[in-house]
Amino acid sequence: MAQIYSRIMATGSALPERVLTNADLEKFVDTSDEWIHSRTGIRQRHVAAEGETTGDFATLAAQRALDAAGVKPSELDLIILGTTTPDIIFPSTACLVQHRLGANGCAAFDVNAACSGFVYALGIADKFIRSGQSKKVLVIGAETLTRMVDWTERETCVLFGDGAGAVVLEASDEPGIYATCLHADGGHKELLYNPVGVSVGFKDEPNHGVRIRMSGREVFKVAVKTLDSLVEETLAAAGMEASQLDWLIPHQANLRIIEATAKRLNMPMDQVIVTVDKHANTSSGSVPLALDSAVRSGKVKRGQNLLLEAFGGGFTWASALLRY
Ligand code: ACO
Repeated sequence: MAQIYSRIMATGSALPERVLTNADLEKFVDTSDEWIHSRTGIRQRHVAAEGETTGDFATLAAQRALDAAGVKPSELDLIILGTTTPDIIFPSTACLVQHRLGANGCAAFDVNAACSGFVYALGIADKFIRSGQSKKVLVIGAETLTRMVDWTERETCVLFGDGAGAVVLEASDEPGIYATCLHADGGHKELLYNPVGVSVGFKDEPNHGVRIRMSGREVFKVAVKTLDSLVEETLAAAGMEASQLDWLIPHQANLRIIEATAKRLNMPMDQVIVTVDKHANTSSGSVPLALDSAVRSGKVKRGQNLLLEAFGGGFTWASALLRY
């Protein structure tokens, strides 16, 4: 029997209308455009308006991907949504999006792997397709991370933004996704987490609200080291050399982390998709937003080899090497 691959049919994305620039932030946070840009590459971020939810951006991104693919929601047999900022505790945001699209009946679930959520979801979707279980799968990464940002905490509030991206995958005789690698190490929880939850109680420390805790410098070091070995592992799993890659589409947290990974791969920065300047860190939204912008701008073309990678809270880290 011929091997089944999963292939990206089309991509889509959605961003909140409101843009908050570094200059805007300077007005109410003790920071500067120079500090933010030189350390992270970020110039601006999109911020959800009151009442806008992760599910809103996920639905819009999904509709755009479905339109571009020419696929009706009723043709989907699986929806997987990576998010760490679901609309509500349950039902899952995947179920909310499914209903709004009109795809009721197919399997739908969320994956929480922090910033690696979309790449995790892509890896899982690939397994469903390769096993013959699913033929058309919608994979989404969507976040409203600014909902858990404390705008008085300059160490973190300058880093994050909101948005969503999506891809429609189909079963195909030809690649498609060559390899995916998914990893986690729960031993680093204290370096990057949000302590508010259900079982532990809904309240954070007094006067703090729901906010992200991050030891930036330590996260930075582990991320660079981990991504180095991840890209090697992914190339080996796909049986490919770095020289065969056309594009690196990395998680958009920090330009310096992105540059370190590109250097490891010996790839010039003009083969790296960078959107961190415009979107900041949108966690699960980051890789599919970067992918969609690269596809729609005409940079990424059919037949090219793309390496997608992400690193985030957990820690989690994940990659996918695919022919677009
Ligand atoms: N504006 C101005 N000054 C600031 C700001 C700010 N927004 N934030 C911190 N500073 C100050 C600090 O107080 C410190 O001052 P001090 O030296 O007087 O004590 C100084 O700047 C340097 O701070 P560092 O933390 O050493 O700065 P660093 O160069 O490490 O950059 C950063 C910080 C940008 C957070 C970086 O460490 C980083 O990007 N880390 C990785 C974060 C990341 O990738 N997260 C990804 C996962 S996110 C997820 O999964 C949800």
